Amino acid sequence: MKFALELCDLTRHFEISQGLWKEKRQFTAVNGVNLRIEPGEVLGLVGESGCGKSTLSKMILGLLAPSEGNVLIHDKEMDLSNRMALARVIQPVFQDPYSSLNPRKRVKDIIRLPLVLHKIGSKSEQKRQVVDISRRVGLPDRLLEQFPGQLSGGQRQRVAIARALILRPSILICDEPTSALDVSVQAQILNLLMELKQEFGLTYLFISHNLAVVEYLSDRVAVMHQGNIVEQGSREQIFEHPAHPYTQTLLASILTPDPDLSLPDPESLVWSKAG
Ligand SMILES: Nc1ncnc2c1ncn2[C@@H]1O[C@H](COP(=O)(O)OP(=O)(O)OP(=O)(O)O)[C@@H](O)[C@H]1O
Ligand SMILES: [Mg+2]
Repeated sequence: MKFALELCDLTRHFEISQGLWKEKRQFTAVNGVNLRIEPGEVLGLVGESGCGKSTLSKMILGLLAPSEGNVLIHDKEMDLSNRMALARVIQPVFQDPYSSLNPRKRVKDIIRLPLVLHKIGSKSEQKRQVVDISRRVGLPDRLLEQFPGQLSGGQRQRVAIARALILRPSILICDEPTSALDVSVQAQILNLLMELKQEFGLTYLFISHNLAVVEYLSDRVAVMHQGNIVEQGSREQIFEHPAHPYTQTLLASILTPDPDLSLPDPESLVWSKAG
Protein backbone atom coordinates (compact mmCIF):
# COMPACT_ATOMS: atom_id res chain seq x y z
CA MET A 1 0.00 0.00 0.00
CA LYS A 2 1.47 3.31 -1.05
CA PHE A 3 -1.04 5.79 0.31
CA ALA A 4 -3.73 5.51 2.94
CA LEU A 5 -5.62 8.29 1.25
CA GLU A 6 -5.20 10.00 -2.09
CA LEU A 7 -7.30 12.85 -3.43
CA CYS A 8 -7.09 13.38 -7.17
CA ASP A 9 -8.38 16.65 -8.60
CA LEU A 10 -11.18 16.55 -6.07
CA THR A 11 -13.76 19.23 -6.86
CA ARG A 12 -17.16 20.19 -5.56
CA HIS A 13 -19.47 22.83 -7.00
CA PHE A 14 -22.64 24.11 -5.37
CA GLU A 15 -25.51 25.89 -7.06
CA ILE A 16 -26.20 29.03 -5.07
CA SER A 17 -29.08 31.40 -5.44
CA GLN A 18 -28.20 35.08 -5.87
CA GLY A 19 -31.52 36.31 -4.57
CA LEU A 20 -35.12 36.31 -5.64
CA TRP A 21 -35.74 35.95 -9.41
CA LYS A 22 -32.04 35.92 -10.08
CA GLU A 23 -30.30 33.08 -11.89
CA LYS A 24 -28.49 30.51 -9.84
CA ARG A 25 -24.73 30.69 -9.89
CA GLN A 26 -22.19 27.95 -9.60
CA PHE A 27 -19.88 28.22 -6.64
CA THR A 28 -16.77 26.05 -6.33
CA ALA A 29 -16.21 25.13 -2.69
CA VAL A 30 -13.37 22.68 -3.40
CA ASN A 31 -11.30 23.22 -6.50
CA GLY A 32 -9.13 20.44 -7.95
CA VAL A 33 -7.51 19.32 -4.71
CA ASN A 34 -4.63 16.84 -4.88
CA LEU A 35 -3.44 15.43 -1.57
CA ARG A 36 -1.78 12.23 -0.46
CA ILE A 37 -1.54 10.84 3.04
CA GLU A 38 0.83 7.99 3.80
CA PRO A 39 -0.16 5.24 6.22
CA GLY A 40 0.44 6.36 9.80
CA GLU A 41 0.81 9.99 8.85
CA VAL A 42 -1.05 12.98 10.29
CA LEU A 43 -1.90 15.54 7.65
CA GLY A 44 -3.06 18.83 9.14
CA LEU A 45 -5.42 20.86 6.98
CA VAL A 46 -5.66 24.55 7.82
CA GLY A 47 -7.48 27.47 6.31
CA GLU A 48 -9.94 30.15 7.27
CA SER A 49 -13.65 29.61 7.78
CA GLY A 50 -15.50 28.82 4.57
CA CYS A 51 -12.42 27.79 2.57
CA GLY A 52 -13.86 24.33 1.92
CA LYS A 53 -12.32 22.10 4.61
CA SER A 54 -15.53 20.41 5.73
CA THR A 55 -16.76 20.03 2.17
CA LEU A 56 -13.50 18.23 1.42
CA SER A 57 -13.86 16.00 4.47
CA LYS A 58 -17.47 15.11 3.60
CA MET A 59 -16.36 13.94 0.16
CA ILE A 60 -13.65 11.79 1.71
CA LEU A 61 -16.20 10.23 4.05
CA GLY A 62 -18.57 9.50 1.19
CA LEU A 63 -21.18 11.87 2.64
CA LEU A 64 -21.05 14.20 -0.36
CA ALA A 65 -20.45 13.22 -3.96
CA PRO A 66 -17.57 14.96 -5.73
CA SER A 67 -18.46 17.01 -8.81
CA GLU A 68 -15.15 15.96 -10.34
CA GLY A 69 -12.11 13.96 -9.36
CA ASN A 70 -11.90 11.02 -7.03
CA VAL A 71 -10.83 9.65 -3.68
CA LEU A 72 -8.55 6.64 -3.39
CA ILE A 73 -8.48 4.72 -0.14
CA HIS A 74 -5.57 2.30 0.21
CA ASP A 75 -4.89 2.76 -3.51
CA LYS A 76 -8.43 1.78 -4.49
CA GLU A 77 -11.08 4.13 -5.79
CA MET A 78 -13.72 4.82 -3.16
CA ASP A 79 -16.90 2.88 -3.79
CA LEU A 80 -19.80 5.12 -2.77
CA SER A 81 -22.27 2.29 -3.34
CA ASN A 82 -20.69 0.26 -0.55
CA ARG A 83 -20.94 2.49 2.51
CA MET A 84 -20.65 -0.41 4.92
CA ALA A 85 -17.22 -1.34 3.58
CA LEU A 86 -16.22 2.33 3.63
CA ALA A 87 -17.26 2.70 7.28
CA ARG A 88 -14.94 -0.11 8.29
CA VAL A 89 -11.95 1.73 6.89
CA ILE A 90 -12.62 5.40 7.44
CA GLN A 91 -14.48 7.13 10.26
CA PRO A 92 -15.15 10.75 11.24
CA VAL A 93 -14.71 12.64 14.49
CA PHE A 94 -16.65 15.88 14.23
CA GLN A 95 -16.49 19.15 16.10
CA ASP A 96 -19.74 18.96 17.95
CA PRO A 97 -20.13 15.56 19.56
CA TYR A 98 -23.54 16.52 20.92
CA SER A 99 -25.21 16.85 17.56
CA SER A 100 -23.61 13.64 16.30
CA LEU A 101 -24.73 11.52 19.27
CA ASN A 102 -28.33 10.36 19.54
CA PRO A 103 -29.61 12.06 22.74
CA ARG A 104 -32.18 9.31 23.37
CA LYS A 105 -29.73 6.43 23.40
CA ARG A 106 -27.49 5.34 26.24
CA VAL A 107 -23.76 5.70 25.74
CA LYS A 108 -23.25 1.91 25.67
CA ASP A 109 -25.79 1.57 22.84
CA ILE A 110 -24.32 4.48 20.87
CA ILE A 111 -20.88 2.89 20.94
CA ARG A 112 -22.24 -0.59 20.18
CA LEU A 113 -24.44 0.45 17.23
CA PRO A 114 -21.76 0.08 14.49
CA LEU A 115 -21.13 -3.51 15.64
CA VAL A 116 -24.86 -4.23 15.50
CA LEU A 117 -25.23 -2.70 12.03
CA HIS A 118 -22.23 -4.60 10.74
CA LYS A 119 -23.32 -7.79 12.53
CA ILE A 120 -19.95 -8.22 14.19
CA GLY A 121 -19.79 -10.64 17.15
CA SER A 122 -22.42 -12.03 19.50
CA LYS A 123 -24.25 -9.70 21.87
CA SER A 124 -21.94 -10.58 24.76
CA GLU A 125 -18.88 -10.14 22.53
CA GLN A 126 -20.17 -6.73 21.44
CA LYS A 127 -20.72 -5.69 25.05
CA ARG A 128 -17.20 -6.72 25.93
CA GLN A 129 -15.82 -4.69 23.02
CA VAL A 130 -17.82 -1.64 24.12
CA VAL A 131 -16.36 -1.85 27.62
CA ASP A 132 -12.83 -2.35 26.24
CA ILE A 133 -12.85 0.58 23.84
CA SER A 134 -14.62 2.84 26.37
CA ARG A 135 -11.94 2.18 28.96
CA ARG A 136 -9.30 2.76 26.31
CA VAL A 137 -10.65 6.24 25.50
CA GLY A 138 -10.90 7.09 29.20
CA LEU A 139 -14.63 6.68 29.79
CA PRO A 140 -15.40 5.19 33.21
CA ASP A 141 -17.75 2.16 33.06
CA ARG A 142 -20.50 3.97 34.98
CA LEU A 143 -20.92 6.49 32.15
CA LEU A 144 -21.98 3.73 29.76
CA GLU A 145 -25.45 3.74 31.30
CA GLN A 146 -25.86 7.51 30.89
CA PHE A 147 -27.37 9.55 28.06
CA PRO A 148 -25.21 12.06 26.10
CA GLY A 149 -26.97 15.00 27.79
CA GLN A 150 -25.62 13.82 31.14
CA LEU A 151 -21.98 13.99 30.03
CA SER A 152 -19.45 16.81 29.80
CA GLY A 153 -18.24 18.01 26.39
CA GLY A 154 -14.96 16.16 26.75
CA GLN A 155 -16.72 12.95 27.78
CA ARG A 156 -19.05 13.24 24.80
CA GLN A 157 -16.07 13.60 22.48
CA ARG A 158 -14.59 10.44 24.05
CA VAL A 159 -17.86 8.65 23.26
CA ALA A 160 -17.63 9.85 19.65
CA ILE A 161 -14.03 8.62 19.45
CA ALA A 162 -14.96 5.22 20.93
CA ARG A 163 -17.77 4.88 18.41
CA ALA A 164 -15.42 5.85 15.58
CA LEU A 165 -12.87 3.23 16.65
CA ILE A 166 -15.09 0.29 17.44
CA LEU A 167 -15.00 -1.00 13.85
CA ARG A 168 -11.18 -0.70 13.91
CA PRO A 169 -10.89 1.70 10.97
CA SER A 170 -7.45 2.66 9.71
CA ILE A 171 -8.21 6.30 8.85
CA LEU A 172 -9.83 8.98 10.99
CA ILE A 173 -11.08 12.24 9.54
CA CYS A 174 -11.04 14.72 12.41
CA ASP A 175 -12.90 17.91 11.53
CA GLU A 176 -12.20 20.45 14.29
CA PRO A 177 -12.52 17.69 16.92
CA THR A 178 -11.55 19.88 19.85
CA SER A 179 -12.74 23.32 18.78
CA ALA A 180 -15.91 23.22 20.85
CA LEU A 181 -14.09 22.17 24.01
CA ASP A 182 -12.61 24.00 26.92
CA VAL A 183 -8.86 24.58 26.43
CA SER A 184 -7.79 22.24 29.24
CA VAL A 185 -10.00 19.49 27.83
CA GLN A 186 -8.70 20.16 24.30
CA ALA A 187 -5.21 19.12 25.32
CA GLN A 188 -6.50 15.89 26.92
CA ILE A 189 -8.43 14.91 23.81
CA LEU A 190 -5.50 15.73 21.51
CA ASN A 191 -3.22 13.68 23.74
CA LEU A 192 -5.70 10.80 23.58
CA LEU A 193 -5.93 11.02 19.78
CA MET A 194 -2.16 10.82 19.48
CA GLU A 195 -1.96 7.81 21.81
CA LEU A 196 -4.68 6.04 19.88
CA LYS A 197 -2.88 6.77 16.64
CA GLN A 198 0.20 4.94 17.90
CA GLU A 199 -1.72 2.09 19.42
CA PHE A 200 -4.10 1.41 16.53
CA GLY A 201 -1.73 2.43 13.73
CA LEU A 202 -4.11 5.12 12.50
CA THR A 203 -3.78 7.68 9.74
CA TYR A 204 -5.31 11.11 10.38
CA LEU A 205 -6.60 13.95 8.30
CA PHE A 206 -6.76 16.59 10.99
CA ILE A 207 -8.72 19.72 10.15
CA SER A 208 -8.38 22.76 12.38
CA HIS A 209 -8.26 26.50 12.22
CA ASN A 210 -6.07 26.39 15.33
CA LEU A 211 -2.52 26.53 14.00
CA ALA A 212 -0.96 25.71 17.38
CA VAL A 213 -2.87 22.45 17.42
CA VAL A 214 -1.94 21.64 13.82
CA GLU A 215 1.72 22.39 14.46
CA TYR A 216 1.63 20.19 17.53
CA LEU A 217 0.35 17.03 15.93
CA SER A 218 0.86 17.11 12.16
CA ASP A 219 3.62 15.41 10.21
CA ARG A 220 2.65 17.36 7.12
CA VAL A 221 0.45 20.38 6.64
CA ALA A 222 -1.73 21.53 3.76
CA VAL A 223 -2.99 25.09 3.55
CA MET A 224 -6.37 25.70 1.94
CA HIS A 225 -7.61 28.99 0.58
CA GLN A 226 -10.88 29.51 -1.28
CA GLY A 227 -11.17 25.89 -2.27
CA ASN A 228 -7.55 25.46 -3.36
CA ILE A 229 -4.59 23.89 -1.63
CA VAL A 230 -2.14 26.76 -1.96
CA GLU A 231 0.76 25.09 -0.20
CA GLN A 232 1.68 21.79 1.39
CA GLY A 233 4.80 20.43 3.01
CA SER A 234 6.34 19.09 6.18
CA ARG A 235 5.37 20.77 9.42
CA GLU A 236 8.78 22.45 9.59
CA GLN A 237 8.54 23.72 6.01
CA ILE A 238 5.11 25.24 6.51
CA PHE A 239 5.69 26.73 9.95
CA GLU A 240 9.28 27.85 9.56
CA HIS A 241 9.59 28.65 5.85
CA PRO A 242 6.12 29.31 4.48
CA ALA A 243 6.42 30.05 0.77
CA HIS A 244 2.92 31.13 -0.19
CA PRO A 245 1.80 34.66 0.77
CA TYR A 246 -1.48 33.29 2.10
CA THR A 247 0.34 30.92 4.47
CA GLN A 248 2.54 33.78 5.61
CA THR A 249 -0.53 35.89 6.37
CA LEU A 250 -2.18 33.02 8.19
CA LEU A 251 0.90 32.46 10.35
CA ALA A 252 1.42 36.15 10.99
CA SER A 253 -2.13 36.39 12.31
CA ILE A 254 -1.31 34.00 15.17
CA LEU A 255 2.18 35.07 16.14
CA THR A 256 1.42 34.59 19.81
CA PRO A 257 0.52 31.03 20.74
CA ASP A 258 -2.42 30.44 23.02
CA PRO A 259 -0.92 30.34 26.56
CA ASP A 260 -3.94 28.46 27.91
CA LEU A 261 -3.42 25.56 25.57
CA SER A 262 -0.64 23.76 27.38
CA LEU A 263 0.05 20.74 25.22
CA PRO A 264 1.94 17.75 26.54
CA ASP A 265 5.47 17.03 25.43
CA PRO A 266 5.24 15.01 22.17
CA GLU A 267 8.02 12.70 23.38
CA SER A 268 5.86 11.56 26.27
CA LEU A 269 3.07 10.47 23.93
CA VAL A 270 5.00 7.60 22.49
CA TRP A 271 5.55 6.05 25.86
CA SER A 272 2.55 7.00 27.89
CA LYS A 273 -0.15 4.42 28.41
CA ALA A 274 -3.55 5.83 29.18
CA GLY A 275 -5.07 4.84 32.46
N1 LIG B 1 -24.64 22.36 0.79
C1 LIG B 1 -24.11 23.52 0.43
N2 LIG B 1 -24.71 24.35 -0.46
C2 LIG B 1 -24.16 25.51 -0.84
N3 LIG B 1 -22.97 25.97 -0.39
C3 LIG B 1 -22.32 25.21 0.50
C4 LIG B 1 -22.84 23.96 0.97
N4 LIG B 1 -21.96 23.43 1.85
C5 LIG B 1 -20.95 24.32 1.94
N5 LIG B 1 -21.16 25.38 1.13
C6 LIG B 1 -20.28 26.55 0.97
O1 LIG B 1 -18.99 26.05 0.65
C7 LIG B 1 -17.99 26.86 1.28
C8 LIG B 1 -17.08 25.98 2.09
O2 LIG B 1 -17.79 25.49 3.22
P1 LIG B 1 -17.11 24.51 4.28
O3 LIG B 1 -18.13 24.14 5.27
O4 LIG B 1 -16.43 23.43 3.55
O5 LIG B 1 -16.04 25.48 4.93
P2 LIG B 1 -15.00 25.21 6.12
O6 LIG B 1 -13.65 25.47 5.60
O7 LIG B 1 -15.27 23.88 6.73
O8 LIG B 1 -15.37 26.37 7.15
P3 LIG B 1 -15.34 26.35 8.77
O9 LIG B 1 -13.91 26.55 9.18
O10 LIG B 1 -16.18 27.53 9.12
O11 LIG B 1 -15.92 25.05 9.24
C9 LIG B 1 -18.74 27.92 2.09
O12 LIG B 1 -18.77 29.11 1.37
C10 LIG B 1 -20.13 27.32 2.25
O13 LIG B 1 -21.08 28.34 2.33
MG1 LIG C 1 -15.90 23.22 8.62
